[in-house]
Amino acid sequence: MFMKHIEADVLIIGGGIAGLMAAEYLSSHKNVIVITKFSAEKSNSFLAQGGISAAIDKEDSWAEHFLDTLKAGHHHNDQEAVKQLVKEGESVVRTLTEWGVSFDRHENGSFMLGKEGGHHRNRIVHAGGDQTGKKVIEALIRRVRKKVKMVSHQYAVDLIIQDQKCIGVYCKDDENQTTIFQAKNTILAGGGYAGIYGTTSNAYGSDGSVLCMAYRAGIELSDLEFVQFHPTLLSGRVPAGLITEAVRGQGGILVNSSGVPFMKDVHPLKDLAPRDIVSKRLFQEIHVHGEKVFLDISSIKEFKSKFPGVTMLCENAGIDLNKGLIPVSPGAHFTMGGIVTDQTGKTSLRGLYAIGECANTGVHGANRLASNSLLEGAVFAKEAAKSILSSEVTDTRPEIIKRKILNDEKSIQLRNLLLEEEIHRLMDKYAGIVRSEKELINAAETLDLGTWRTELLKEPLPVIKRFNMQTIAWLTVTSCLKREESRGSHYRNDFPSQNNTWNSKKIIRSLWHDES
Ligand code: SIN
Repeated sequence: MFMKHIEADVLIIGGGIAGLMAAEYLSSHKNVIVITKFSAEKSNSFLAQGGISAAIDKEDSWAEHFLDTLKAGHHHNDQEAVKQLVKEGESVVRTLTEWGVSFDRHENGSFMLGKEGGHHRNRIVHAGGDQTGKKVIEALIRRVRKKVKMVSHQYAVDLIIQDQKCIGVYCKDDENQTTIFQAKNTILAGGGYAGIYGTTSNAYGSDGSVLCMAYRAGIELSDLEFVQFHPTLLSGRVPAGLITEAVRGQGGILVNSSGVPFMKDVHPLKDLAPRDIVSKRLFQEIHVHGEKVFLDISSIKEFKSKFPGVTMLCENAGIDLNKGLIPVSPGAHFTMGGIVTDQTGKTSLRGLYAIGECANTGVHGANRLASNSLLEGAVFAKEAAKSILSSEVTDTRPEIIKRKILNDEKSIQLRNLLLEEEIHRLMDKYAGIVRSEKELINAAETLDLGTWRTELLKEPLPVIKRFNMQTIAWLTVTSCLKREESRGSHYRNDFPSQNNTWNSKKIIRSLWHDES
């Protein structure tokens, strides 16, 4: 099989905020390549509406942001990592401003600060009203593409490991052509796996493929059971667009079909309680009481100019905003679990970093605080870049890779592979907001790929994608089964209480690599 070969100092997989910011930090010193599955405009970062949380109001402090993050995360967070995150808020906003992002400001030049779930203060910096992700990614692309090679439509299949060091990645494109991307350091910034659910706010392709690649190489993953369900996706639409929490920050209220505002007695922050709490309450309204749920926006002045993205989404779906009600229901939005890293993004494999949603630094705990995700991407992009720039002096160039595809490997039994839609249905039904042992066992059995191994590179791309989706779905479901407690976004109706013997991360490590 002919393989193209491309070399760089640093290979970055993923074109969201984490990947692009790492590229920008590294680009003056290193030869960097960024590869994306589709294009940077198709990332989840691009879709981000709310903004970036930063304690920049003079009444606010990083310590308060820290406490809100821990509370939302049900204290499953790594406190040192959280401190590192929240202390950087103001500096991230300053850097992005210097790099060309125009955040929304008042006439006097101060930032307009929005409020979202779990925050006790207004601390969400935003751009273009509800188009923060788009504005940030467009500015980053404008800067990065002058200095960095960006290659789109490359699906990363497997890590290349030599002498217990990562030296690059095998990728396939839509034409099934394999390319070897060889690099002294590789940064995984390929996002999470909320896209394996049918009802999701995520961009197409959020299928956890970089986590699967790490898993197959024996790298540690953890906390995959923690999947965040955002309370307000536009109901009944596929794909279900997001109605940003900032709408509730401006006074939007969740009501049922009779107009009853049901969040007021649930939590002191009412409609702006942390997401896990609001989503669980919506689940009850919808699935236990058989209600429909709406976001009442009638009290919000100048809704259309404040929320141009949501306005377009609703108008395209035929919703008349003048009636003041948007039909909503929860859906998978963000995954807290991921590849275990330290505070510089280093994984358990030399030469390999993971940053952004695919990583688990411990900042989010069992439930991420609103608008901490773009912040996470930015903060750990800088840390990973700093680590690469300071540590690489002694690295030698690895040998050129010569790879033969072994045709005698056992092939995947295609009959064991589920279709994408089947995985979506299974995850929605059995690994959603409310989980139970019986249903999880059922799902795990259906998803189990057994002992089948394959030389993935020889398979066509659609098969590789299904194999990855099924792998991460199985890992998620088995992680849900193992955690016999309820905490944050993980709710088991057979173990409804939090149990502090379950406080630590649970590490998952595949034996694939050791066995081969
Ligand atoms: C939102 O705008 O509601 C989502 C922002 C986030 O995921 O934190």
